[in-house]
Amino acid sequence: MIKTETAKPEDRSQVVNLLMENGMDYSDPIEDFTIARANHSIAGCIRIEPHATVKIIRPLVVASAYRKTGVGRLLLETAIPNANGRPVVIVSRGESRGFYKAVGFSEADWKLIPDHQREECNLCPERPSCNPVPMIYA
Ligand SMILES: CC(C)(COP(=O)(O)OP(=O)(O)OC[C@H]1O[C@@H](n2cnc3c(N)ncnc32)[C@H](O)[C@@H]1OP(=O)(O)O)[C@@H](O)C(=O)NCCC(=O)NCCS
Repeated sequence: MIKTETAKPEDRSQVVNLLMENGMDYSDPIEDFTIARANHSIAGCIRIEPHATVKIIRPLVVASAYRKTGVGRLLLETAIPNANGRPVVIVSRGESRGFYKAVGFSEADWKLIPDHQREECNLCPERPSCNPVPMIYA
């Protein structure tokens, strides 16, 4: 059975590994992450970063063994209600756009994306293959 909960200090190394395996960066504190726990492993994690006008998902990842089993949707459904009225945005990477569309996001303007994320995408050498697309939960 998979359940979502706030990550604890002892989950840090598993969260860091999961992110690294998927080419994503970790940032403290660990308690900012909501994890999907499956027995003794972590099936996925999400962190939602607050900004003045929006909240941005940075990052969301599901371990490859658990993909297409509803874990990504479960993590979003757990984390989005905590956005306190601020719109939730994401810069989708590659194939993940289909997932975000399936769970209720639509394409948005880059202007909605916080500066640091926009700059990160602008400077990223993988931009052409990643094809990042800003999206908003509506
Ligand atoms: C993208 C990701 C988070 C999706 O998580 P997941 O647990 O596999 O997704 P779910 O099983 O909850 O799927 C929810 C819905 O999205 C659909 N979906 C999932 N992945 C999809 C994809 N690549 N393309 C199209 N639809 C997809 C599912 O079919 C499902 O639709 P349904 O509810 O109508 O049946 C996961 O594949 C992942 O971590 N990928 C690598 C990292 C990544 O790209 N993260 C996003 C960075 S922006």
